Amino acid sequence: MTIHWNPETKEFHLCNHELSYVLCVFSSGRVGQLHFGGALAPERSYRHLEPRDPETPDNAALDGLGFEYPTQGGGDFRAPALALAVPDGAPVLDLIYAGHRIVAGKPPLAGLPATYVDRADEAETLELVLRDAPSGAEVALSYTIFRDHAALCRSARVKNAGTSLLSVRCAMSASLDLDGGPWDMLQLSGHWAHERQLIRRRVVQGSQSIESRRGASSHQHNPFVALERPGATEHTGEVYGFSLVYSGNFLADVERDAAGTTRVRIGIHPGGLSWSLEPGAELQLPEAVLVYSARGRGALSDTYHRLYRTRLTPRPWRDRPRPVLLNNWEGTYFAFTEAKLLEMARVARELGVELFVLDDGWFGERDSDTRSLGDWTVNRKKLPGGLDGLARKIEALGMAFGLWIEPEMVSPDSRLFAQHPDWAIAAPNRRPTQIRNQYVLDLSRPDVVEWVHDTIRTVLASAPIRYVKWDMNRSITEPFATALPPDRQGEFFHRYMLGLYAVYQRITTAFPDVLFESCAGGGGRFDPGLFAYAPQAWTSDNSDAIERLGIQWGSSLVYPPSAMGAHVSAVPNHQVGRITPLATRAAVAFFGVLGYELDPTALSAAERAAIADQIAFYKRHRDLLQRGRFVRLVGPHGDDSPRAGSVHGPSNDLAWMCVSDDQAHAIVGFYRVLQRANAPSFRIRLRGLSAAATYRVTTWPATGDPVDRDNTGPRGGDELMQVGLLVAAERHYGTQRGDFWARVFVLDAL
Ligand code: DGJ
Repeated sequence: MTIHWNPETKEFHLCNHELSYVLCVFSSGRVGQLHFGGALAPERSYRHLEPRDPETPDNAALDGLGFEYPTQGGGDFRAPALALAVPDGAPVLDLIYAGHRIVAGKPPLAGLPATYVDRADEAETLELVLRDAPSGAEVALSYTIFRDHAALCRSARVKNAGTSLLSVRCAMSASLDLDGGPWDMLQLSGHWAHERQLIRRRVVQGSQSIESRRGASSHQHNPFVALERPGATEHTGEVYGFSLVYSGNFLADVERDAAGTTRVRIGIHPGGLSWSLEPGAELQLPEAVLVYSARGRGALSDTYHRLYRTRLTPRPWRDRPRPVLLNNWEGTYFAFTEAKLLEMARVARELGVELFVLDDGWFGERDSDTRSLGDWTVNRKKLPGGLDGLARKIEALGMAFGLWIEPEMVSPDSRLFAQHPDWAIAAPNRRPTQIRNQYVLDLSRPDVVEWVHDTIRTVLASAPIRYVKWDMNRSITEPFATALPPDRQGEFFHRYMLGLYAVYQRITTAFPDVLFESCAGGGGRFDPGLFAYAPQAWTSDNSDAIERLGIQWGSSLVYPPSAMGAHVSAVPNHQVGRITPLATRAAVAFFGVLGYELDPTALSAAERAAIADQIAFYKRHRDLLQRGRFVRLVGPHGDDSPRAGSVHGPSNDLAWMCVSDDQAHAIVGFYRVLQRANAPSFRIRLRGLSAAATYRVTTWPATGDPVDRDNTGPRGGDELMQVGLLVAAERHYGTQRGDFWARVFVLDAL
């Protein structure tokens, strides 16, 4: 990994074994892009790739050029990375190279989450300073290249180096000008209880984008897009990923122009943004993580998984095994007593559960979702011994205790709201919108941030709490910051995020051994920004195993299994009413951080035995399932590619696997949604094994299904990858497996 600067040709070349990123200073002083893609020889010049002279007075020439940080008002008519309101009122900017420095390692981003390195020799960072002299605007662009990851991290810092007020109207984290394509765009979109479905569409001339304006990254769109060459698959073809380490409003925009470029921009949503920069002030923008893969979507995911699991997840938790938990939410909702919880905990402990999580309803007078958010004192009617009493009893049973909290919210029916009605976000003279009977606290205000921080600290100090589920159950409406004057209201959404990150930072630093799981009505804030503080997130409020296939499949494009809370819940499922076999529910949840979300006291003896077996299985293979390499094999739409433009559930067959780094162990999950009579034989070809190794193949659960016999026994890694496992032949009448059938295969090198 190196960053070369060639002063003669004025080129920067950032490269590692997988990728090269080449940029140059044009004769005009503007900074252009020459190449982002497969690795090139760093000692050569690539200036000839852009023969046009952008000094030309003919502005039209700028339209087809690649720029590092394009601006408004010149001859580049594509959407800009930077737009400012400047003192003279002219909507024109021209950023000119003013200097650079190259440093070992990766400096942190002030106030914002970001990937990190453990040692300076893991990465190098280029900081490039550009200046617009008439306005005094200065932009520091930062680029980090890693030694061990096919990723490039970009971010930008805008500074007012002039003497008059500037206002930032658009400042993206990264802008990249690729060739004109053709390209397909991938996005992870959906809605509540149906998050992160993988969608693909052809990029056409004009702009196509995804975004959030909800104050959170949202259920609707994840802050991620990818461009791939048409025909790319899970395992072949070029794919470029763009992931934003941010949890608030964002825009990811792909613009194909007529002149043969495709511009990708990702960053804070410029809609409504207006950030005042006094002379000397700076605005740090979030990090965008760009990943290049020449080996399809699988290698792209592999890079994101490794980088986010090992260099974004908080250090204390990145390698620690995540506990198997029981969450009482779907088991009791608000209707619980201490006796009931302890009864559940006793059974859970017998089954092997390690962490008991008390969800919503433990505080104030919270017997439904209509009240008490903000009143974070324990409800003694439900828990006479308080949190401390309950937690200690749970610990005495041999389990850790975890707690749900939704600290950013206030119910209109609460003591907090009665005392501080002005802390709830609302616009002057307008009726505030209630969503789920609640308002959002104004985290753009330092005093509110302080209160939220103190409150969480007090709760955490009140009992031996080893885990926190931090929820956030509504979008932000009527955005207005009471602490800011009217002309600075455009800062509200980002200031909210800075307040949130400040609380997360302080709390997770003060309680490094507490495991945080973020949640926003399920997966409404499932983004890299929060993974920097909370190592795992509640993937979706939809706990149905079949629905989860599509959700976990899509999520896995960027996020590793260790990031995905995945629970076995009761049937009929509470979201869709589907009845799936218990083994199938586990076989899906195994490929995430396993938990249970049901009342274990309501289980039959057979179900208890089955769950004990599931938990024992998961613990045996936990390291592989939580830290192994995750590979998608058979996709939600019957082949390995998503259907263009669709938001559908999974197709009939789906398979994925985890393989250990040393290739000695692997676990494969196969799922058939609906059975068919006399179904044809079907084999899944595995990936990532050692071709030379021989594997013992066993199946889980052991049921005597013919598939066990067909696959059990020693098999060569070459055969498993070239020919595959037989998973679906219905060769024997009388072996009807029923719908929603799953099988787990365990491979151990002999
Ligand atoms: C939404 C979460 O996603 C659920 O798991 C649960 O914690 C509820 N909130 C509680 O109100």
